[in-house]
Amino acid sequence: MGASSALLSPAVLMTFLVAVGSLMAYPEVVTAKHAGITRHYHFDIKLKSITRLCRTKSIVAVNGKFPGPRLIAREGDRLVVEVVNHVPNNISIHWHGVRQLRSGWADGPSYITQCPIQTGQSYVYNFTISGQRGTLFWHAHISWLRATVYGPLIILPKRNESYPFVKPYKEVPILFGEWFNADPEAVINQSLQTGAGPNVSDAYTLNGLPGPLYNCSSKDTYKLKVKPGKTYLLRLINAALNDELFFSIANHSFTVVEADAVYVKPFVTNTLVIAPGQTTNVLLKTKPQAPNATFFMLARPYFTGMGAFDNTTVAGILEYETPSSSSSSISSKNHPLLKPGLPAINATNFVAKFSSKFRSLATTKFPANVPQKVDKKFFFTVGLGSSPCPKNQTCQGPNGTKFAASMNNISFALPRTALLQSYFFAQSNRGYTTDFPAFPLHPFNYTGTPPNNTLVTNGTKVVVIPFNTSVEVVLQDTSILGAESHPLHLHGYNFYVVGQGFGNFDPNKDPAKFNVVDPAERNTVGVPSGGWVAIRFQADNPGVWLMHCHLDVHLSWGLRMAWIVLDGELPNQKLPPPPSDLPKC
Ligand code: C2O
Repeated sequence: MGASSALLSPAVLMTFLVAVGSLMAYPEVVTAKHAGITRHYHFDIKLKSITRLCRTKSIVAVNGKFPGPRLIAREGDRLVVEVVNHVPNNISIHWHGVRQLRSGWADGPSYITQCPIQTGQSYVYNFTISGQRGTLFWHAHISWLRATVYGPLIILPKRNESYPFVKPYKEVPILFGEWFNADPEAVINQSLQTGAGPNVSDAYTLNGLPGPLYNCSSKDTYKLKVKPGKTYLLRLINAALNDELFFSIANHSFTVVEADAVYVKPFVTNTLVIAPGQTTNVLLKTKPQAPNATFFMLARPYFTGMGAFDNTTVAGILEYETPSSSSSSISSKNHPLLKPGLPAINATNFVAKFSSKFRSLATTKFPANVPQKVDKKFFFTVGLGSSPCPKNQTCQGPNGTKFAASMNNISFALPRTALLQSYFFAQSNRGYTTDFPAFPLHPFNYTGTPPNNTLVTNGTKVVVIPFNTSVEVVLQDTSILGAESHPLHLHGYNFYVVGQGFGNFDPNKDPAKFNVVDPAERNTVGVPSGGWVAIRFQADNPGVWLMHCHLDVHLSWGLRMAWIVLDGELPNQKLPPPPSDLPKC
């Protein structure tokens, strides 16, 4: 991280110190035996000048840091984050994976739970983290601003509680990102205008650094210095915009212990797959003796679609400190630098195998509360499509149309006012309809030869469900304009991944194979390319909750929908009114 701190100007350093100072001003005072504390953070959204790949540009950043500041809390703590917008763009921040129990006003997706924070305005996100511990992240949730506005959200176990695995010697967040030489906002705006696929990124990054495999980038390399014979906890976060990634470190293996802030049954692997929106905690056990080598850690995409993608590789370096010399970098200069092998770009079988390894701990302490009976079943197709080219324009999407994406063929159009506001205040002109289809209106062979008509319908359609409904959703990929893996993310909930398969879901045969004992509990799951995945959740959190593909290009094209979960009968089953500073549209 040395390279990035060298870029901090004195002014930026001051903001940083102020941020640290404000943290210290709120010491951990435990008020009751198990009650958490309140932690205050301040986010100044400002432009920052930054150089990568020999180009200097201005990015939207938080507190002058890229990646953004680390939020740390313990399970049970309340987070109060004041976000002040000093940039020309409207913005909102999402605390990805935080359940937001009855605090939906703090969830963050623009036009879903709040109007964005306008230039010169601020908003205080106030929420308690309950029943969760592990690695999550926060990111901007409007347009493509999350390209540079993201950072780790680390939830430690409660005081006096420990991990269900060996105590790590050190914990290291590793954020995967995606770097554009151009302004990412210009990239997506141009794509939406012309209908073509957006220009792809120029690099991937590890903790903001592209590494030595790119031109003019070797000084911007993330280095992880380790001691021999220790266990490190790597908190991996995929904050890339559009790409699932394979990740591996030469001559080392990982023990996966947690995903999306839920402990899993540990398993060992040399290579990980991590989709945008997913987080994975792994233990890295270093060699007993410092080896005479340094090790590349590499990440590059998994991709099966038809469009263009960034086919480059980000590299960081794992380096052993030798106890004899503190100047280990000098002695390691003549060490060989070993490279790990990675699966093929389109290694779908590897990905399916890998994702099926995730299992809940399912212990008394960390149970898997899988809904055993289902009140309401849904079947959503997810995939690409097209929308007609406006008159007097030529479009550069498929056959002269515009690229679109949809769920059940509905391409979700953002409303003018946040859905949660319209819903909560029962506005007459509410800007959404409640007729999102539970099943496709026109069934077809989803993974066979695609239909000739690929047009989507635009609409702001939601599904309304009563409080505490137990829900099953089968998410079915389509082959329209190319089968592709879609990391589907649900706000406000974790869900259990009870089944997955290739081809079309068979409602007669496939449910018999569902795992309702110890399935993975996640907030983001990859819908297999040319396949399906089945999830279940208990709708015990009232509010409006977005569900969408976490590839921003598909999100922008409309691969999103929203659930309205109604209030329950009891006072503690109702969504409280919004805070007074909720931004206006
Ligand atoms: Cu991390 Cu709606 O997303």
